[in-house]
Amino acid sequence: MPQPTTPRTPHSPPIRVAVVGGGGISRGRHLPALASESERVDVVALVDVDAARASAAADEWWIPGRYTDVHAMLAAESPDVVVICTPPASHREAVVASLDSGAWVWCEKPPALSLAEYDEMAAHEGDGNGPYAGYVFQHRFGSGAERLRRHVDEGTLGRPLVGVCHTLWYRDTAYFEVPWRGRWDTEGGGPTMGHGIHQMDLVLSLLGDWSEVTAVMSTTARRTRTEDVSTAIVVLESGATLSVVNSLLSPRETSYLRFDFERATVELEHLYGYDNAHWRWTPGPGVDEDTAAAWLPETDEPSSHRAQLASFLDSYSRGERPRASGEDGRRVLELIAGMYGSALTGTTLRRRDLLPGHDFYHSMHGGDADAAASVLTRRETAPGV
Ligand SMILES: NC(=O)c1ccc[n+]([C@@H]2O[C@H](COP(=O)([O-])OP(=O)(O)OC[C@H]3O[C@@H](n4cnc5c(N)ncnc54)[C@H](O)[C@@H]3O)[C@@H](O)[C@H]2O)c1
Repeated sequence: MPQPTTPRTPHSPPIRVAVVGGGGISRGRHLPALASESERVDVVALVDVDAARASAAADEWWIPGRYTDVHAMLAAESPDVVVICTPPASHREAVVASLDSGAWVWCEKPPALSLAEYDEMAAHEGDGNGPYAGYVFQHRFGSGAERLRRHVDEGTLGRPLVGVCHTLWYRDTAYFEVPWRGRWDTEGGGPTMGHGIHQMDLVLSLLGDWSEVTAVMSTTARRTRTEDVSTAIVVLESGATLSVVNSLLSPRETSYLRFDFERATVELEHLYGYDNAHWRWTPGPGVDEDTAAAWLPETDEPSSHRAQLASFLDSYSRGERPRASGEDGRRVLELIAGMYGSALTGTTLRRRDLLPGHDFYHSMHGGDADAAASVLTRRETAPGV
């Protein structure tokens, strides 16, 4: 009589992972994070258009397969998961090819150069059980953010009323000498797209969607085709208002978020990553100490690629859509499109208008990169000056 067996599901370990891109973020964050998951992950291949880089990264991490082309790698290796760590303009091709091969995808930010491109990639996901494409937004996954998310969902702190979202970083002229930086066609924008995206994503993932935005941007001090600073006032669907600044011109660098709820102020100040010590929880009047103490996280998990990777692999193993994918991965890109649309047209922009056919749905510069550059560098001289 045949014995009952437990079949190996397609999502059982070891999960065969391929990494595309062997540059800074791949070697600094993704490969160490994958190594920390060695009990359930086998990294089978590394792809980089630069063969020497592919070999160097593969040698360093004992990865057997080395390729210079993502399509060749997919055909030869059929990985379960593809981790994409290449510059933004190459995300679409690698995401689409990987999904079409049946692999799940975890891709670096920014997910895509436009909402249209994001939706095009999402159309290649499977329905029901995947494959899905998730995106890297590691700051959602530290224990401080996870704890705050639970309070927001449960309403413990009362309604959110006011928020502040500042990404005040410093990048010198040499930083923009890397060919893909500071260009619409390769990066999709400046600090709004490339840097503040993490902080804005975290705020939206906590407080929900926005409804309208009024933004001002300019190219103030760096030689780039995009903005080097952006500011915005955002009205959230909850009715709360949020003020946003994204700058690459700020010598004392900081990433600062502040949330004023009815019963507490919650602040996060860090630079490129946080743990619990970077959070400050201030109870409002009438909140006793014991209540406020119970608000704090029970564990101290720093924000990190490792923490998000663990969540992604859990979702993969369950065959469920990962966090920061689909509508949940698109939210911040929509705000960014709204900010560019508002700043470049001098109007307030509503989220519900950012649909196919809208100039800023199709590209972050609205269709004319030269016109965008001239708006951003415009200097109006005050009368008498
Ligand atoms: N999540 C974060 O905190 C964070 C931080 C830094 C960078 N990033 C993102 O990571 C991505 C990569 O940034 P980076 O700093 O590692 O860049 P990088 O230039 O250091 O490395 C990119 C690598 O990709 C390779 N490459 C380029 N096109 C390719 C293609 N079509 N196929 C295969 N390989 C290709 C390059 O040869 C290079 O080795 C970008 O999207 C960036 O925005 C995210």
